[in-house]
Amino acid sequence: MFESLAQLPPDPILGLIAAYKQDPRPNKIDVGVGVYRDENGETPVLQSVKQAEQYLLASETSKAYVGPAGNPEFIAQMKKLILGSGHTALDRLALVQTPGGCGALRVAAELIKRAKAGARIWVSDPTWGNHIPLLGDAGVELVSYPYYNFSRHQICFDEMFSALKHVGKGDLVLFHACCHNPSGADLSQAQWQEITRLAEQQGFVPFIDMAYQGFGEGLDQDAYGIRLMCERLPEVLLAVSCSKNFGLYRERVGALALLSDQPQVASSHFANIVRGIYSMPPSHGASIVATILSDSSLEQQWRVELTQMRERIIAMRQCLVEKMKALGAGPRFAHIAAQQGMFSFLGITPTEVAALREQHAVYMVDTGRVSLAGLNDNNIDAFCSALQAVLIPSGGV
Ligand SMILES: Cc1ncc(COP(=O)(O)O)c(C=O)c1O
Repeated sequence: MFESLAQLPPDPILGLIAAYKQDPRPNKIDVGVGVYRDENGETPVLQSVKQAEQYLLASETSKAYVGPAGNPEFIAQMKKLILGSGHTALDRLALVQTPGGCGALRVAAELIKRAKAGARIWVSDPTWGNHIPLLGDAGVELVSYPYYNFSRHQICFDEMFSALKHVGKGDLVLFHACCHNPSGADLSQAQWQEITRLAEQQGFVPFIDMAYQGFGEGLDQDAYGIRLMCERLPEVLLAVSCSKNFGLYRERVGALALLSDQPQVASSHFANIVRGIYSMPPSHGASIVATILSDSSLEQQWRVELTQMRERIIAMRQCLVEKMKALGAGPRFAHIAAQQGMFSFLGITPTEVAALREQHAVYMVDTGRVSLAGLNDNNIDAFCSALQAVLIPSGGV
C-alpha cells in the first residue's frame, strides 16, 4: 500500500545544511541553521548543563516513566521562569512538559480542536515555517495577519492592528513573545499594551510562542508580553521551548501552558492528549532544566551563560551594520542592529542569496533570513565583503 506515496522534495533547511557540509571551500560560512553558535562556530553544551548532568548521573535512581505531564519540579520552575515568581496569575496556569517547543505546538493544536471545532489561529505574515505543519496539518485552520514590512524592515503595526480588529471570540492569535522568527522585529511594550486591550475588547485568545526567552533583551524583558496578557486576560495559551536558552536542542525540552479559570481541567486534557500522541515526554532534558532552576548557584551560572550568548549576538548585529556602512552600503542594513534574537532578513533578493552561496560559499535560506549567531570575529569580514560584492557586482563602492 505504501507504494502510493510519492517522493517528497527535501526540506529546504535540511537541504541547505547538507549542501553546506559538502562544500569543500575552507572559508564557507553558514548563517542558515537555527542553532546558537559561539565565537568558534560551535554549539557548545553549557557549563551549567554539564554540571546538572553530572549531578543527575550520580543521583538518578530510576528510568521508569515520568508520566504524561512530565517532571513536577520542571513544571513548577517553568511557571516561575515564564511568569516571574510574584505573578498574580501563577495559580491559574496549567503547564505540561513537552518534547520541545514543537511538541508544545502540536499538543496545543489538539487542545484547540477539542475546545472549539472550527476555531482558527491567526499567524503573523511571515511566521516560522514550522508553525504551518505543526498547527495547520494538525487540522486547525490558519489565517494570516500582516506583521512585517519587507521594504521598511519593520513591523507594520497599523496594518496588523486593523487586521486583528476583525478577529473575534473563538479564534486565537499567535504571537512570538520575543525574537520573532524569521524577522527579528518585536512588538514594543506600548504595542503589547495596545494588543492586550484589543484582545480584551474582541475576546480572541492570545497564543504566544516563546522559543527564545533571554535571547532578546533579558529573561524578564522578553516575557513582558506574556506577563502582561496573563495579568489582564482570562485565557492565554503558551508554547515554550528550552532548546535555545538552555542549549538543549536534541534533548527536546519545552512546555505547553494554558492560563484559565480551570487549570485542573486543562491539566487533565493535556495528559489525555499527550497519552494519545507520544504517551510520555523524554526525561533527561527537563531534569536538567529542573536541576538548574532549583539550585541558586547553578541558576546564576546559567544566567551568566545566557547573557553571554545574548550579548554575542547583539555584538554581531552591531558589527555587521558598522562594517556594511564602512563598505559603502549606507544605512541599508541598520535594521539588523534594531532587531533582536537569532534571526533577521538581510533584505536581499533570492538571486543575491544564490550568488552568495555560489560565488562566496555563504549559506542562507532563499528568503535572505540570516542567523546572526553564525557570525563571529573570524568570519564577519569575509561575510560583509561577500555581501557587498553581490550587492554591487562591479565591485565598486
Ligand atoms: C518560533 C519558534 N517556535 C518554536 C520553536 C521550537 O523549537 P524546539 O522544538 O526545538 O524546542 C522554534 C525553534 O526553532 C522556533 O523558532
